[in-house]
Amino acid sequence: MARVYNFSAGPAVLPEEVLEECADEMLDYRGCGMSVMEMSHRSSVFKGIIEGAEARLRSLMGIPDSYRVIFTQGGDSLLFSTVFMNLATNGKADYVITGNWAKKAFQEAQILGDAQAVASSADKNFSYIPDCSDLPIREDASYLYICENNTIYGTRFAELPNTKGHVLVADQSSMFLSGPVDVTRYGLIHAGVQKNVGPAGVQIVIVREDLIPEDLPGVPTMLRLRTQADAGSLYNTPNCWGIYVCGKVFEWIERGGGLSAMGERNAEKAKLLYDFLDESELFSSPVEPRDRSLMNVPFVTGSADLDTEFVAEAAKVGLVNLKGHRSVGGMRASIYNAMPRAGVEALVSFMKDFELAH
Ligand SMILES: Cc1ncc(COP(=O)(O)O)c(C=O)c1O
Repeated sequence: MARVYNFSAGPAVLPEEVLEECADEMLDYRGCGMSVMEMSHRSSVFKGIIEGAEARLRSLMGIPDSYRVIFTQGGDSLLFSTVFMNLATNGKADYVITGNWAKKAFQEAQILGDAQAVASSADKNFSYIPDCSDLPIREDASYLYICENNTIYGTRFAELPNTKGHVLVADQSSMFLSGPVDVTRYGLIHAGVQKNVGPAGVQIVIVREDLIPEDLPGVPTMLRLRTQADAGSLYNTPNCWGIYVCGKVFEWIERGGGLSAMGERNAEKAKLLYDFLDESELFSSPVEPRDRSLMNVPFVTGSADLDTEFVAEAAKVGLVNLKGHRSVGGMRASIYNAMPRAGVEALVSFMKDFELAH
């Protein structure tokens, strides 16, 4: 078996233990004589899987009973619209623009109603998080929206914005379950699971019950949060396989000591890489130190040719998917929960050798 260290931004590395468990259960899920992929989403066995996954997620994140958990589909990008349609009750919401995903969420909201950008870091190619201590949030804005970890630019909110009493909505896709979170500070959290939690095709929404509208005239049934909240995410056929794998990843996190332990391990892994970037004479991080993501680490050599050579040479020794996003260039190492410390050590060691040779 030749497994590589996969630094993809998503879909991304999953814990090997989880993949092995899935392989073991592939043909016969616990004596059912069939795969999870083949069973009815209305079966008692699948009900056990989805309810078990939700219970584990609630326990890991400490999600209060006053919040609903929804497993949904359509891409995290669809939630950019769903969020506005459900939460912008008066058609107004404010956005902090910290990169492509925040901008896309903002643009969807603009299609649907009155969305306003209250801060942006576009002036420095999104290499930092703007000061969010005194934002000009409109009194009547229904919520303030942030993309809490910016997958492409490698920034994250080290501190949540001062929402001035407004509801906070966060896209946590590329940091979901990477460390402890105080759910009560948010009105809604959404995340595509294909980075830190499972295979592509499932999104998780954690939303305060009182924010889910009972009635939404003009909004299609499938786009009302109330529909899936009331149906336990089983209004229609969900991504059964994806939810099953997520449940296994939740269990894997639990076994590893929960979110505090995960957060500590992630901070150590990121420190290894950032410490090297800060001392290197060849490689550097384009991101403001205070705002650096623990999950997505972009870096550059300053020469496009050398960057290309680095990515190609790294792949030859099993360090793959290190090419940066086209809007930043250079390299990006995504070091999600399932990336072992040994993978980051191997990367840093390769970078040291590459630097010596160039
Ligand atoms: C932070 C963030 N939000 C949203 C998305 C979009 O997710 P999807 O491709 O599931 O629509 C991504 C994808 O990379 C992302 O990184």
